[in-house]
Amino acid sequence: MKIITYGTYDLFHYGHMNLLKRARELGDFLVVALSTDEFNRVKGKESIMPYSQRKEILEAIRYVDLVIPEDNWEQKINDIKQYEIDVFVMGDDWCGHFDFLKEYCQVIYLPRTEVVSSTMLKAAIKDAECT
Ligand code: CTP
Repeated sequence: MKIITYGTYDLFHYGHMNLLKRARELGDFLVVALSTDEFNRVKGKESIMPYSQRKEILEAIRYVDLVIPEDNWEQKINDIKQYEIDVFVMGDDWCGHFDFLKEYCQVIYLPRTEVVSSTMLKAAIKDAECT
């Protein structure tokens, strides 16, 4: 079974690892579509770490088999077909949002890990800089 998931994965943290681990356990090949810096800007997000570093970290994670760029909203159906994906996985902050993909593969929303997020880490770094 081939799995795919999407995200920015800035300031890699425990919640990211936990999502990737559970996603990989659903099958035997995990593709991560990683938002490019340009696409993050389109989404109104600015990552601290550039795409190349975020990609290198993901590639070092044992649960990740392949990292591909995510550079637009419309590529998901194409990716699912191209990589012969069986299951699309996202954290449940996206619950219901990608149900239109059920026509092409299984869609699963996994519970988010509580407390930690890239936004929280960014805020903590900013606070530390000010004190
Ligand atoms: N994720 C999770 N648990 C967390 C944080 C993220 O399961 N505590 C999941 C998201 O649901 C998503 C994936 O990890 O499927 C990548 O999330 P991303 O948006 O890159 O990370 P966040 O830490 O949520 O970043 P931000 O605070 O910028 O939204």
